[in-house]
Amino acid sequence: MIQEPKPSIPQMLNAKNDAAEQSLRPSDFANFVGQNKTVERLKIMTGAARKRGESLSHILLSGSPGLGKTTLAMILGEEMGSGVRITSGPVIEKAGDLAGLLTSLEVNDILFIDEIHRVPKTVEEYLYSAMEDFRIDIMIGQGPNARSVSLTLPKFTLVGATTRTGLLSAPLRSRFTLQTRLDYYSGEDLTRIIVRSAKLLAFDIDIDSAHEIASRSRGTPRIANNLLKFVRDFVQQKGLARVSKNVARTALEMLEIDANGLDEMDKKILLCMAQNYGGGPVGFGTVAVAVGEDLQTVEEVHEPYLITEGYIQRTAQGRVLTSRGWQKVGIEQSGSHSPMQRNLSL
Ligand SMILES: Nc1ncnc2c1ncn2[C@@H]1O[C@H](COP(=O)(O)OP(=O)(O)OP(=O)(O)O)[C@@H](O)[C@H]1O
Ligand SMILES: [Mg+2]
Repeated sequence: MIQEPKPSIPQMLNAKNDAAEQSLRPSDFANFVGQNKTVERLKIMTGAARKRGESLSHILLSGSPGLGKTTLAMILGEEMGSGVRITSGPVIEKAGDLAGLLTSLEVNDILFIDEIHRVPKTVEEYLYSAMEDFRIDIMIGQGPNARSVSLTLPKFTLVGATTRTGLLSAPLRSRFTLQTRLDYYSGEDLTRIIVRSAKLLAFDIDIDSAHEIASRSRGTPRIANNLLKFVRDFVQQKGLARVSKNVARTALEMLEIDANGLDEMDKKILLCMAQNYGGGPVGFGTVAVAVGEDLQTVEEVHEPYLITEGYIQRTAQGRVLTSRGWQKVGIEQSGSHSPMQRNLSL
């Protein structure tokens, strides 16, 4: 029998452009669950800008994949009644690309740059004057005939999204009036998101089943929605009348996501740190090679969740397994492996 490959967490996080995701995307603050601090800040800014009849100031949204950055950018457009132009860091290859984008905007439009940390350095400098003075100076022609042309831009709002604030240069970061970080969602918020999505998908679900899915969604709405869709498929394919907590659990066990939301790769990383590196400190570049996963995925998807949930810690020397991490892999933490002991024996 040929087994269907199971979708991994990174795959689930990447399944972000399908039409179903669009239909589940909340289009106003009222339907956007959780992230209270960020939502409050954005409401203040949009409310004030609307009252003054001005464009919204530049905003940087950061946070792990699937937490709602794109969703919030679209909501900002709705709130302000402005158009939203969407682009992404790596797509803007040259200053000319940026100039083309900026000059096509209308007053108060929002330019949403996803993965803004991947805007090439040569282009980034042009963003500085565009953001600050609504002006861009570009070179036209080459050699002795080259001349600089200054273009005046409409007052626009730049909304940047990044999964890696640390990779953003200080001058760029400082040009955003508001820098706000999205956190992982609580089980309660995820349950609300699942109940809302189920309603939109016309799938009948009780609170207990929604809670079961929420507890395995590693704090991420996109994963919650994808798990919900998998449970719905499972119920349909098995010819069940309805979903229950047990049915949801059985379905999700097929995806090998455990009760704490950890997938196979998370567990592989913890096991590798315990068995190969005595619990660390170890660099994640080394761990990524050892577990056969791309470093960017390890750093953006696995590491933040493992840190938030207290399985690993980041230290100046590298990543270290915590006692919770040792417990998870089911290995007794031997004295000589603890970083403290190791330091003492040096
Ligand atoms: N607060 C929320 N309430 C309800 N649904 C949400 C919320 N945040 C996100 N979602 C759902 O999760 C999906 C993923 O969110 P979104 O695309 O905004 O994430 P993102 O942060 O832009 O991710 P990436 O970094 O991968 O681009 C959305 O389509 C939406 O259905
Ligand atoms: Mg996005």
